[in-house]
Amino acid sequence: MAETMTFDGEALHLLDQRALPTEVRYLACRTADEVARAIKTLVVRGAPAIGVAAAFGMALAAKRAEESGGSIDQALESAHTILAASRPTAVNLFWALEQMQSARRAAGGTTGHTIVSALLAQARKIHDDDIASCRAMGEFGATLFPARARVLTHCNAGALATAGYGTALGVIRSAHRQGKIDRVFADETRPVLQGARLTAWELVNEGIPTTLITDSMAGFLMSHGEINCVVVGADRIAANGDVINKIGTYTVAVLAREHGIPFFVAAPRSTFDLATASGALVTIEERDPEEVVHWAGVRSAPAGVDVRNPAFDVTPAALVAAIICETGVARPPFGPDLVRLARLPLHSGRV
Ligand code: MRU
Repeated sequence: MAETMTFDGEALHLLDQRALPTEVRYLACRTADEVARAIKTLVVRGAPAIGVAAAFGMALAAKRAEESGGSIDQALESAHTILAASRPTAVNLFWALEQMQSARRAAGGTTGHTIVSALLAQARKIHDDDIASCRAMGEFGATLFPARARVLTHCNAGALATAGYGTALGVIRSAHRQGKIDRVFADETRPVLQGARLTAWELVNEGIPTTLITDSMAGFLMSHGEINCVVVGADRIAANGDVINKIGTYTVAVLAREHGIPFFVAAPRSTFDLATASGALVTIEERDPEEVVHWAGVRSAPAGVDVRNPAFDVTPAALVAAIICETGVARPPFGPDLVRLARLPLHSGRV
């Protein structure tokens, strides 16, 4: 599969997810501004991938400042400001920016070259750790699936939403390798169709049996016994286990509860926001109404209609059966497990 992003030492090459599934093309970003614009315009999207891209944005800012003889610290400050303003909800973005600032502090008052090397190394580490985390999550999560899983997923929490392998789709990939997947149902995920354009593309490319449905069909299939588990990713998980994810996730969780179907969430610890008590305190991004009244350049609603376009919603912890991360599985009431799992070193968990 095409890689979500690659870094060649000079530029970050982002797979342009706006063009999928019809075209595979890459956008080269040489500055933090270009990375921020790519995040804002959904060239790169998905909480972990946004964080990894932002980390490279910081490293690029330091590199460009060193090359032009400018102040690296000033460049990092302004890169931090512009990247932090790119999207508000996925906490991985802010986590990655803090990791980069802390790598800068650890490098101390050494030469510009040493600082740039430290920041490039940190960005590469965040990238590589994200893939390792997804693989570990896949192993933990696959144990939770029923034999002959008929699993529904919403939005795209795949390789495209991460540095590689995916969170929810990582669990599906691992379960598929173990012969546990009967079928995956992918919600198309209005308004931007991450499910239809991206999730279906990933799964079909991998030969995993996949059925695409519109968002409004999930209840019908559940009521006919066609789905026996749900797995989604997350953009932020509050200290009480509330899950913030793509708009429509809450609806799926309510439907799953009504039909007695387990609702699983897979997300790395960079998605945990243990400083925020509950989902009600999280900023939900409202995106351009044009996404709702147009598709592929064609108007699909009358001019003058009022539109809402919240990009995420909050699924209360009470609707979640388990939260899968790279060090294990958190169970209700979540708070204590999230704290415990957040403290474990990567690779310390036992499947
Ligand atoms: O607006 P997007 O496409 O960035 O939203 C993505 C999601 O909501 C994903 O489900 C979430 O980031 C988890 S990705 C591993």
